[in-house]
Amino acid sequence: MTPSTALLDVDDLRVAYGRPKRPWRPGGTRVDAVAGVSLRVGRHETLALVGESGSGKTTVARCVVGLIRQRSGAIVFDGQRLGAGARRPAALRRAIQMVFQDPRSSLNPRMTVGRIVAEGWQAHPSVAPPGDRRSAVRALLDQVGLDATVLDRRPSQLSGGQCQRVSIARALALKPRLLVCDEAVSALDVSVQTQILRLLSDLRDQRGLSVLFITHDLGVVRQIADRVAVMRRGELVESGETEQLFASPQHPYTQELLDAALDLDVTDLDVTDPVETVD
Ligand SMILES: Nc1ncnc2c1ncn2[C@@H]1O[C@H](COP(=O)(O)OP(=O)(O)O)[C@@H](O)[C@H]1O
Ligand SMILES: [Mg+2]
Repeated sequence: MTPSTALLDVDDLRVAYGRPKRPWRPGGTRVDAVAGVSLRVGRHETLALVGESGSGKTTVARCVVGLIRQRSGAIVFDGQRLGAGARRPAALRRAIQMVFQDPRSSLNPRMTVGRIVAEGWQAHPSVAPPGDRRSAVRALLDQVGLDATVLDRRPSQLSGGQCQRVSIARALALKPRLLVCDEAVSALDVSVQTQILRLLSDLRDQRGLSVLFITHDLGVVRQIADRVAVMRRGELVESGETEQLFASPQHPYTQELLDAALDLDVTDLDVTDPVETVD
């Protein structure tokens, strides 16, 4: 195998849920959620994975972070092939962190912000700060734009945007190289969305992170992504540079998504730009 220059290289990923249909066992419930998806996330790059609800985006994300196991296909991170979660070496588990959709339910309601951010250091002592942990947490909060006054608060005392910043600080505490954000701004107001997207872009630039940014919303894609991969019914229909894809989508489904986003007026795409369709 030739060494990959990408940080993450997903090759022909296939994931099914449920029991397979068998002639001797009727009523199989198998859903082929991901049916042969290949994608790459370059170093310091943000790749948006887009597609309507049910297209298999979250399933790809869960495989990449190791929460579920694929039926076939390879996930290669920095040249190393990854097994399922528990089989991954600690350093690789740490290197890929996830930020979830619902900022509140992804944080333990009984824990203070300070504990939430520091929690991962127990499992990953190699990246724990050598000195005062509280001041290390304060520095992390500062990096995500939170005041140290939130340190002793619980998630219920924070806004949705603040909770999502805490989630990002918790991920950063483990010094990840890849952030997988699954609909990480979808539950937030548009103005808060923009702030969080800017924060993610800044962190990528400052820390040299790579980001796999999953969303059903093309409006946010332009604000954050270098490249876009479009999924439909478990398959990848198109991928390319963001500007290129918006300007001349190659697949009718991508065009449909763009039209729908324009109809809803949720994209900052300039509607006076001629949109070319290439068959
Ligand atoms: N735990 C599960 N059990 C059975 N089917 C599932 C499960 N999770 C997702 N699916 C199905 O897999 C497909 C892809 O889902 P998902 O990856 O969540 O898509 P997306 O994130 O794009 O909305 C859908 O048909 C969904 O109903
Ligand atoms: Mg999803």
